[in-house]
Amino acid sequence: MSDAQVRAFPTLEDASDALAAEVARELEDAVATHGRATMALSGGSTPRRLHEILASEHNLPWDRIHVFLGDERFVPPHSEDSNFRMACDTLLNHVRIPLHNVHAWETSMSHPDLAAITMQVELERIFEVDEGELPRFDVMLLGLGEDGHTASLFPHSPALRVRERWAVPAKAPDKPRRRLSITLPVINASRHIHFLVAGGDKREALRCAMDDPSPDCPASLVRPDEGTLTWWLDEEVAP
Ligand code: 6PG
Repeated sequence: MSDAQVRAFPTLEDASDALAAEVARELEDAVATHGRATMALSGGSTPRRLHEILASEHNLPWDRIHVFLGDERFVPPHSEDSNFRMACDTLLNHVRIPLHNVHAWETSMSHPDLAAITMQVELERIFEVDEGELPRFDVMLLGLGEDGHTASLFPHSPALRVRERWAVPAKAPDKPRRRLSITLPVINASRHIHFLVAGGDKREALRCAMDDPSPDCPASLVRPDEGTLTWWLDEEVAP
């Protein structure tokens, strides 16, 4: 397991700018190396500027890049709570990415389980891995909740113990409670994992996330199998 890197910046804007440059490099490198790149976006509000900078300041080969949402709220895509809507508003509507390269969760289905199964099938279709292998995202973007959750993997959730599925329904303590998430084995199989975290209210969660792995703090269970893990922080949250 590689050691985590910690990069602190004066502001979230500075951290977003630096992370955008790194993500652009990793995506271009992946396209150059294996003809395409795969990226999972995180939700919430922190990544908004990162997305906007990626769209406006980096001219990437989006026709060779597959974008997934690492997690989603089980709400309609037009909902203000939708991670997909946020990703469209800040990134996907502003770059020339083919629709078939965008892989959102099917939240219009009748039940989160069906949406998770549909995402599992989509991951299998796009990654085409052998039996027993895991999909390896080139770039995995993650956020951190004040309770130490990441993606939609919440403290003590049964989803934390799932090993045989890549996409699962989940439950959040706050509304919208019904969630969908990529599982830890897939997150940890990624080539480059990046946490973007800002604000003093996340200091305690960050301390736990960097501490020994514990189901009390799901972000602490993110430990790349072979890839890299980098924390991109503003000075309010940085240790
Ligand atoms: C979600 C996210 C979640 C998010 C954290 C931080 O669906 O909410 O994927 O894991 O990254 O909750 O959210 P903020 O960036 O809004 O603080």
